[in-house]
Amino acid sequence: MSGGSSNNPVVIITGAGSGIGAATARRFASHGYGVVLVGRRQGLLDDVRSDIVEGGGSALVVTVDLASDESAEEVVARTTSAYGRIDVLVNNAAYIQTGVLDDVTPELVDRHFDVNVRAPLLLTQACLAHLRRSPEASVVNVGSSLGSIVMPGTMLYGSTKAALEYLTRAWAYQLASDRIRVNCIAPGVIDTPIHATYSDNLEKTYADLARRVPMGRMGTPEEVAEWIWIVASPPTSWSTGNIIHVDGGHVLGIPEAAGG
Ligand SMILES: NC(=O)c1ccc[n+]([C@@H]2O[C@H](COP(=O)([O-])OP(=O)(O)OC[C@H]3O[C@@H](n4cnc5c(N)ncnc54)[C@H](OP(=O)(O)O)[C@@H]3O)[C@@H](O)[C@H]2O)c1
Repeated sequence: MSGGSSNNPVVIITGAGSGIGAATARRFASHGYGVVLVGRRQGLLDDVRSDIVEGGGSALVVTVDLASDESAEEVVARTTSAYGRIDVLVNNAAYIQTGVLDDVTPELVDRHFDVNVRAPLLLTQACLAHLRRSPEASVVNVGSSLGSIVMPGTMLYGSTKAALEYLTRAWAYQLASDRIRVNCIAPGVIDTPIHATYSDNLEKTYADLARRVPMGRMGTPEEVAEWIWIVASPPTSWSTGNIIHVDGGHVLGIPEAAGG
């Protein structure tokens, strides 16, 4: 991607190298958006970019650690230098580690809040001037069913997702007069690489997780990406401040048949 400006709308997606972020990147690209792929692992981001470019789309890779202070300005500078505009921001990257209150360390608290709350705050703030110029500006925060319900061992992660839901409503209220819509898609139990980052027995984790879903299976990244696209896209222009659960009923409670 070389410098310039784009006639097509542009979306920034964090955590775009895998799982829900990668599926969302492909979804927006299929609708003609220029896609800015943000994450730490260059190889994964390059693969998504290649897919998009081979399909006739346009994508830019920005490799940053979103926990760093400089990352927000760097993402915005690289995006505007390449495309000259920002229309949609998807705050999707996240960190999770399991543990109960006894396991909490200052480092674990900081890691969760740096990546899951502070980074979306600073990146959204850094995008504001550009979003205010867009005719169809939208921010989508990716929350979790665990922002609403308690699951053993996910206290820190769940509290960051609850914070992101609150920020969704606060930003939606503040930015309504700028015609910037802000919504939160809250997935539950999706088959992505995130589970390998905290589980040492993936087969058991997957079986336990699927058991907690009333619809009886894990969701796919594409099933979430579709909703991220829908809430950001122009036909839903009268919708802001919503928390939308995309979770096969996970947030409704553990099915009785599973012993819950
Ligand atoms: N899968 C589920 O069951 C589920 C359920 C509810 C909510 N969610 C939410 O869905 C979103 C996407 O997760 P996923 O399930 O698709 O998992 P995933 O494939 O592991 O995606 C997470 C992405 O975040 C990026 N990331 C993490 N830390 C980062 C950092 N410091 N800087 C930059 N990028 C960082 C990772 O890329 P790098 O490691 O390359 O940086 C990775 O691509 C998250 O917000 C998650 O909380 C998932």
